[in-house]
Amino acid sequence: MSTPPGIDTPATVPDAAALAAELAAAGWLAPHWTEAWSRVDRAAFVPDRVWVPAPDGYHRLDRADDPARWHALVHTDTALITQVEDGTGAPEFSLRPTSSASMPRMVASMLAHLDVREGHRILEIGTGVGITAALLATRLGDDAVVSIELDPTVAAGARDALHRAGHYPRLLVGDGVLGCAEHAPYDRVLSTFSVHTVPPAWVAQSRPGGRIVTPWGSALYNGVLLALDVDTDTTGRLRACGPVVGDAAFMWERGQGVHGGVMDTVRDEDPGTPGTTTLDPDLLVDDRDAAFYTGVLVPGVRRSIGRPPGATRDDGEFTLWLVDAQSRSWACVDHAPGATVFETAAHGPRPILAEAETALAWWDGHGRPARTRFGLTLTAGGQTGWLDDPSNVLPTIRTSFDARS
Ligand SMILES: C[S@@+](CC[C@H](N)C(=O)[O-])C[C@H]1O[C@@H](n2cnc3c(N)ncnc32)[C@H](O)[C@@H]1O
Repeated sequence: MSTPPGIDTPATVPDAAALAAELAAAGWLAPHWTEAWSRVDRAAFVPDRVWVPAPDGYHRLDRADDPARWHALVHTDTALITQVEDGTGAPEFSLRPTSSASMPRMVASMLAHLDVREGHRILEIGTGVGITAALLATRLGDDAVVSIELDPTVAAGARDALHRAGHYPRLLVGDGVLGCAEHAPYDRVLSTFSVHTVPPAWVAQSRPGGRIVTPWGSALYNGVLLALDVDTDTTGRLRACGPVVGDAAFMWERGQGVHGGVMDTVRDEDPGTPGTTTLDPDLLVDDRDAAFYTGVLVPGVRRSIGRPPGATRDDGEFTLWLVDAQSRSWACVDHAPGATVFETAAHGPRPILAEAETALAWWDGHGRPARTRFGLTLTAGGQTGWLDDPSNVLPTIRTSFDARS
């Protein structure tokens, strides 16, 4: 096949040791993880067919077609898509990744935040190709690790690779949202997919003193990494609480993912009700903190950006679309350079623009906080977002989470 755009064949092909050395030199590897990383070779886990990120989507790369490129990518600090479209077919190109080998520096960072100690029992959720399970098993032993994967084909691939490499953690095929009560309690729970709502089972199956590390996000911003410490409240019930510890762009938990294009909700023949706003759409396009807090306070709303034909990003002319597919509501704001009042149109029962204006006014009124000042508390009553301190609760968090039991 042709070379995926944006990917060059390197002059020299690195190996597992080179990748581990690169991660260590860049400060991503805590000293007690270095040995595990030098023993777990990514090439033993990544399948022969991968999809490589490019500016327009993911392009298929088969190992047999270009072994040097495949090896180079496998030993490069990059995420590799290992399944698209839920495994239905093997298209040359896809916009919908459904399984991957996570970016090595991201895995290293998550493991550092997990604060794993000898003797800990770990639940990993989202086995994928099995690399993280192999790292955990290398460090703690096979018996200490339980890993769950929803997709049976992906799970079978991980099992084969782990066994070939001599690792025998407990592997399960099932819905990780439910955790695995059979082998609970766990000292550490690590999710390798993103959620809107942290599943209550992960807290219920943790030990007091435990920790949950998970990517978390909203339809507007995916996402951040949360590190939640588990303890008990005054009535002895488990709860989890902790801050954002960094950014983490992960694929969604399959049941919480967003499907269909943003513009599927917008009908060409419906011009919407016209209006104006002082909400600068640039904030939701260029300011990650503004987008993060708006996503938290205005859940279930996705965005898309449209530009006039021939216009570039530098021209500053664009339309921001905000869409809630569930209620079939949308709003759009036309950005013009230098403007302070912007033309809008809106349709549907949900007042998306008013909600976004309120969210951004809250963010502005609180000194435009960075997303690292956000934290989350989980109790039997659900999840509550806060700023700086668990007592400083954000106005509301609504979610589209479907409670499964
Ligand atoms: C980013 S990949 C995992 C990366 C992997 N842990 C590694 O070591 O590179 C996320 C995985 O989560 C799986 N997944 C998504 N939703 C799930 C669910 N509800 N339960 C279990 N696994 C799920 C996907 O099928 C996918 O394989």
